[in-house]
Amino acid sequence: MSLPVEPMPRPRRPLPPPAHPSGARAPRIPERRLPRHVAIIMDGNGRWAASHGAARTRGHRGGSRATVDVVDGAVEIGLAQLSLYAFSTENWARPAAEVDGIMLLLHEVLRDNIERWHEQGIRVRWSGRRTRAAPALRAELEAAEDLTRHNDVLTVAVCFDYGSRTELLDAVRRMAVDVATGRVDPAALVEQDLAGYLYQPDMAEIDLLVRTGGEQRISNFQLWQAAYAELVFEDTLWPEFDRRHLWRAMQTYTVRQRRFGGTAEVMPGGTAAS
Ligand code: IPE
Ligand code: IPE
Ligand code: MG
Repeated sequence: MSLPVEPMPRPRRPLPPPAHPSGARAPRIPERRLPRHVAIIMDGNGRWAASHGAARTRGHRGGSRATVDVVDGAVEIGLAQLSLYAFSTENWARPAAEVDGIMLLLHEVLRDNIERWHEQGIRVRWSGRRTRAAPALRAELEAAEDLTRHNDVLTVAVCFDYGSRTELLDAVRRMAVDVATGRVDPAALVEQDLAGYLYQPDMAEIDLLVRTGGEQRISNFQLWQAAYAELVFEDTLWPEFDRRHLWRAMQTYTVRQRRFGGTAEVMPGGTAAS
């Protein structure tokens, strides 16, 4: 059993993120054009490894480096919320050695970066089923959540053992209990009530969904939250992705016109564009 970790007060001024080694700086995007919540399907590690004649785990290691850079780049550009698809409910079908390798790498990423992320004001959350992760990873993820609970510069949702259908099933189960015990009147339910049972009920809907690695599919990711997301598909394999690709996707987003089913442009959060 791991001991509860006290949320540590972080310094009043968050540490700035380290710059990209190329010296590239974040483009300036006017605040009203910034997506609030970007989600990334980090795909292509296996193909990257194959193209280098290496084992798939080498690809996942390269993917970890990309993830760390993208988190810094998200802080640098002023993003508020970032969801990262790290491991799906379907990925358990992979060979055990690959699954164990992915869990070990995620554990290492957290161990090596969590203190710096905390100083940068990053809040880490875990979206997914909590019962099947290796105990050491579960402890590391939950400690990261506890440590960073009060941070507000950037929220990073680590989607591990995440599947949208499982998330919806878990939500419906909990809602059914509330109906059965009389806490909820089924006739009075509205969409927002169902959203309240999801893993991260207080996170914004996804404005921009990026998938790397060239495939153009959703793979059971955030089906509810991405209902009106703008989609950007990148051919770059995840180990070759870095913050500059994230910034480019965000710039692409700024010129999209979102209408949410109406005829006029609507900004995220529901306000009409001026
Ligand atoms: C994404 O890369 C990482 C996970 C799904 C964990 P893949 O391992 O799916 O890489 P490809 O799609 O086989 O290239
Ligand atoms: C989606 O990628 C899951 C993650 C990136 C964690 P997959 O590689 O598992 O998706 P499919 O199998 O190509 O749809
Ligand atoms: Mg894949």
